[in-house]
Amino acid sequence: ANAVSLNLTDIQGDILIGMKKNKELFFFFGIENATEFKAKLKSDILPLVTTTTQLLDNTTQPTTALNIAFSQTGLFALNITDNLNDAPFAGGQLADIGNLGDPGTTNWVPQFVGTDIHGVILLASDTVDNINTELASIQSKLGDCITEIYSLQGAARPGNEQGHEHFGFQDGISNPAVSGYDSNPVAGQAVVPTGEILVGEEGDSFLSSRPAWAKDGSFLVFRQLKQIVPEFNKFLLDNPIHIPALTPEQGSELLGARMIGRWKSGAPVFLAPLVDDPILGGDRTRNNNFTYLLPGQTAVNATDQSRCPFSAHVRKTRPRADIGLETNNHHHIVRGGIPYGPEVTAAEAASNTTTIERGLAFVCYQSSTAAGFRFLQQAWADNTSFVHGGVGFDPIIGANQGAQRVVNGLDPTDPSRNITLITDFVVSRGGEYFFSPSLSAIANTLSV
Ligand code: HEM
Repeated sequence: ANAVSLNLTDIQGDILIGMKKNKELFFFFGIENATEFKAKLKSDILPLVTTTTQLLDNTTQPTTALNIAFSQTGLFALNITDNLNDAPFAGGQLADIGNLGDPGTTNWVPQFVGTDIHGVILLASDTVDNINTELASIQSKLGDCITEIYSLQGAARPGNEQGHEHFGFQDGISNPAVSGYDSNPVAGQAVVPTGEILVGEEGDSFLSSRPAWAKDGSFLVFRQLKQIVPEFNKFLLDNPIHIPALTPEQGSELLGARMIGRWKSGAPVFLAPLVDDPILGGDRTRNNNFTYLLPGQTAVNATDQSRCPFSAHVRKTRPRADIGLETNNHHHIVRGGIPYGPEVTAAEAASNTTTIERGLAFVCYQSSTAAGFRFLQQAWADNTSFVHGGVGFDPIIGANQGAQRVVNGLDPTDPSRNITLITDFVVSRGGEYFFSPSLSAIANTLSV
């Protein structure tokens, strides 16, 4: 069943492997002149689109990698009226806001409020200069057939924090292995049917109702998620877990780790329940090798949160054995985001107050936004009864329309204790839903 042979030269590079550069720009545009845009898409942009094959080989990686994706209104602007059969995508992210837990659009970047964004160009490179050079060249080619609506510059954090998101936790550890692409999954990695990520492939739930040209594309969810880091740190310092063997500092670190489900090093709390284990965190063969089952168990004990809270971010968004076999549950995404914004300044740290915006330029790919991102956010992270009644919100991304959130299980010394979070440490600044088409779809459908 897994004998899929994918045409990796036809699949945009960010979907399966990720452009994985230290800088990435998200350039959101509107199409002003469709006829001209189509011509230039074919002659000037298509040759720059970085494929999966190119990224797989170090010698063929361009200085600046480029991917492009379109919103529903963007496809309409290009006169593409085929129904892609993805309701959240069709309506746009603004129309979906009621399903995401955002407190209306008060915190949204104004440019995301509406349906004017037709597409996004992703530019990734080692330096911002490279990206700006590439962008200037693209803009001069496209002229005024597009307008810039908004852009966000992402950047990996410096030094030892590289690869860590702004709260300080190692990111990018656990993405699913996509059948037909990734044949050597590491222990604990989810193995998912090709069609759970790529449209039109085996395992796509809407296989029979996609237009042929959509094959090997994927829906790209973009969210600008602001993180209030000094406030998060203050919360941890004020609420250390009290365990005699731990210093208050360690108690604070334990609370943070239990909110994520992993330590800052990436070590899963399920395997290292009391203190960080950086060697485990850095060991690809072990750092994803857990199911939430203890040795000898065949089902998870529904009351045992001693090693990892049910509400922990990684457990909410991928419950592993909590929900039985994961294969074919259709709720996996491939994440490819990057931090944005500067490091916390001394003044911000001293005042425990964010004054400069920073966060995560969240990107994920799936063949269904309703079963992927939207489901993870709405049915799991924001659902206080998932995976069991009383579990509460995901303390990182769970959203309650701005109202306070109750989280259970964070304190291993008193698992029944509820902790109330009066602020959201992650604030949605909005985003959009896009479709990242195959190169042949760009050549033969979108640009004609
Ligand atoms: C994993 C942080 C937003 C879904 C992780 C990890 C961290 C993290 C530190 C562990 C590293 C790893 O397993 O790769 C954050 C932060 C966010 C955020 C700080 C917001 C600012 C989201 C959103 C979703 C999401 C919006 C989806 C709705 C996931 C999934 C995993 C994960 C599926 C992997 C779980 C696993 O396979 O065990 N996140 N995340 N995250 N996150 Fe997030």
